[in-house]
Amino acid sequence: MRMIDLIEKKKHGEALTDEEIDFLIRGYVDGSIPDYQMSAMAMAIYFKGMDTEEITHLTIAMAKSGDTYDLSGIRGIKVDKHSSGGVGDKTSIALIPWVASCGAKVAKMSGRGLGFTGGTLDKLESFTGFQSGMTKEYFVRQVNDIGCAIAAQTGNLDPADKKLYALRDATATVDSKALITSSIVSKKLASGADAVVFDVTCGSGAFMKTPEQAVDLAQTMIEIGRKAGRKMCAVISNMDEPLGYAVGNILEVQEAVATLRGEGPADVLEICYALGSRMLVLSDIAGTVEEGRAVMKQHLEDGSALRRLAEMVKAQGGDEDLVWHPEKMPDAKIHKVVTAPSDGVISHMECDEIGNASMVLGGGRETADDVIDLSVGIILKKKTGESVKKGEPVAVLYANDEKRLADAEKRFDCAIDYAPAGTRVKTYPVVIETVD
Ligand code: URA
Repeated sequence: MRMIDLIEKKKHGEALTDEEIDFLIRGYVDGSIPDYQMSAMAMAIYFKGMDTEEITHLTIAMAKSGDTYDLSGIRGIKVDKHSSGGVGDKTSIALIPWVASCGAKVAKMSGRGLGFTGGTLDKLESFTGFQSGMTKEYFVRQVNDIGCAIAAQTGNLDPADKKLYALRDATATVDSKALITSSIVSKKLASGADAVVFDVTCGSGAFMKTPEQAVDLAQTMIEIGRKAGRKMCAVISNMDEPLGYAVGNILEVQEAVATLRGEGPADVLEICYALGSRMLVLSDIAGTVEEGRAVMKQHLEDGSALRRLAEMVKAQGGDEDLVWHPEKMPDAKIHKVVTAPSDGVISHMECDEIGNASMVLGGGRETADDVIDLSVGIILKKKTGESVKKGEPVAVLYANDEKRLADAEKRFDCAIDYAPAGTRVKTYPVVIETVD
């Protein structure tokens, strides 16, 4: 078999066979297929797509390309959630201990990754001392004891995705349905969850720009996951503006804690309910989504969700006191208020650009070696559709460096569009649709 023939075949829109897909994944991981040929293949897939059979086989081949985790030591159904990414997404920090307090078993492996803010692991390090590295035995014991653990990926999990994702990032081939599906679902298959709820984000801060594209991606991921024997469903969520008001590591953790205290923003609360109730259904803890929401509400109101976060932080070596007093986390030196230039209505937020402003402040990584400043970020004071008066605060930028602040402020200003006062602006609810 020759890679050039497979590229030729895909270039003409023909379907690849199982053997051909195995050949290309094996060859790419062992280095016998070079990046330039894989780039051409990724671009051919981007333009010509893949049918369901091909995507299923690609996903399974990627999942098997390295280690797979055996979580059979954890009693009960292991449920996970996955977000396709966004700005201000602190959902996992609130949701995972919350559903664990309702009886679910969540054994979550997380990466650090590049992006607007750190990944979930970076954010959790806002709890001084928090450790995400642990042995498999400790991980299994913690999930059996308190229902949840969030740990760094160890071993050689899905090396095909690691290589291919980096290549796609550099060759403008990330936003292909076949390649996103195989990337996300292969990692979930390899990391051992029995059931997964996907949060498929959509809008200016997401890969999928329209609800139609997001539903199509969700349906494909669910179908492939089910073919591989896992229970899956999805929530399509709005990423046309940041989730909640906080963007940045400590700022997001503080907002997640506020959510578990019942004082969080309505959109963060709603996405947690939408994802969590489905996690409880897939775990056989609730019979219906409505029942799942009722169980979650009870555990939020009686304080057990917040207590479970404190238990998780303590079990992983973090300072539990910061769960009860998040205001003690380090604060940035400069708080710069950004104000509205005139009376009007916020008509659009370029979510990506708000994320970039946070990254420029030092809140995210551009390269894997960058060190994140946990205390910087942005607190929005207004969201899309809200009226503003000239000079009224729209956001506060939290910075530790004047030069970075100046750059971030420019980006932030460009990210916000205003319409004349009185204009009615179309906004989406945070949960746009569900695919059960
Ligand atoms: N997240 C992933 O893990 N992979 C993709 O391809 C896109 C988002």
